[in-house]
Amino acid sequence: MSERLIRFGVIGCGLMARELASATQRWSHLLEMDVRPRLVAVADTKPSSMRWFTDNIPDVTVAVNDYHELLASPDVDAVYCAVPHHLHAQIYCDIIRAGKHLLGEKPFGIDLAANRQILETLQDNPRVFARCSSEFPFFPGAYQVIKFLREGRFGKVIEVEAGFWHSSDLNPDKPINWKRQLAYNGEYGCMGDLGMHVLHIPLRFGWMPRSLWALLSKIVAERPDGAGNMAPCETWDNAILACDVETEDQQFPMLLSTKRIAPGETNTWFIKVHGTAFSAEFSTKFPRTLRTMSYRPGDPQRWQVEDLGHTPPYPTITGGIFEFGFSDSILQMLAAFCDELVHGDEMRGPFGCATPEETAQHHRVLTAALESHRSRQVIHL
Ligand SMILES: NC(=O)c1ccc[n+]([C@@H]2O[C@H](COP(=O)([O-])OP(=O)(O)OC[C@H]3O[C@@H](n4cnc5c(N)ncnc54)[C@H](O)[C@@H]3O)[C@@H](O)[C@H]2O)c1
Repeated sequence: MSERLIRFGVIGCGLMARELASATQRWSHLLEMDVRPRLVAVADTKPSSMRWFTDNIPDVTVAVNDYHELLASPDVDAVYCAVPHHLHAQIYCDIIRAGKHLLGEKPFGIDLAANRQILETLQDNPRVFARCSSEFPFFPGAYQVIKFLREGRFGKVIEVEAGFWHSSDLNPDKPINWKRQLAYNGEYGCMGDLGMHVLHIPLRFGWMPRSLWALLSKIVAERPDGAGNMAPCETWDNAILACDVETEDQQFPMLLSTKRIAPGETNTWFIKVHGTAFSAEFSTKFPRTLRTMSYRPGDPQRWQVEDLGHTPPYPTITGGIFEFGFSDSILQMLAAFCDELVHGDEMRGPFGCATPEETAQHHRVLTAALESHRSRQVIHL
């Protein structure tokens, strides 16, 4: 099979960049791909952050402190950018203006204005393909829920719930990091950090809230700053959004939650769709398990529990009985990005990464949530 090579650069060599780089190294895991990413260049202001890449990724021949040098390279076709949120607008726009395709991290701009700036730059550079990272829809269980939605299995939707929960911030001794600071993470706090993950599937199915009511909480007020002092935690720890969704033929409540302090949860992403004819629930807490319930009037109401095994959207060498994990979802998401970059609307996989338009919708939701909390009112979108 002839194969199209996409030469990647990475800007921001932290936690997420290592995940993505590792996915490029196990591309042979995927079957029947006609496209292959090759990571050739990295950029980070901290030289020590690039060492893992230069030590482990044989094709990385460019490692620079100034990302402009990476963007000047004719050997880079696409960039994965994973930097703190206050840098998204500047660096994403520079990437786009350099004519490089962009896989950006969420929230795709620290706030609505930054997101608009990125989308306007994309409009001015229509040859650039851009998507936002969101890997959880590529878990087999999430993908099954997507398939059921496409098949229209649910009947009248009763309600939808989606969330993303962490717990490490329950520990008040955890040192402060940029996610607790307004200047770096933005006013959205936990919503900017986790909201795109929660909204990706709902927005793909047209469930833009018509109105919402937000409950935002700050739970731990200050944290050790690593220099013997305490620093204020400025961002929201937890958020619950009660949304009213209206589609062409349906109206239903949708409860969205993003939490940095959900006791015991390490990286729990979940979606539940309950309908009159069919219901489905999936959570990464039980990554193999899909719960569904078909219902016909008068029948007994019995949930079914199915161990899904390794059945992601893009077929792999992994046996169907084995477990699927976070790094597999990154590999699947990168496959979707490369597939759509090369094939556009004719992409082979069934589900694409979050689009710039979806990031804009999610910014409208998060901005409305801030306004709802401030005014203690329901906000109409
Ligand atoms: N998709 C996911 O599941 C997921 C998970 C965690 C974080 N993220 C997102 O990824 C992004 C980065 O988060 P992270 O946890 O990897 O952060 P991180 O702090 O681990 O890494 C950020 C890196 O950016 C570098 N950097 C800062 N300024 C730079 C500049 N001007 N030029 C080049 N490099 C620069 C830092 O030195 C650091 O190495 C954020 O947008 C975050 O929301 C996504």
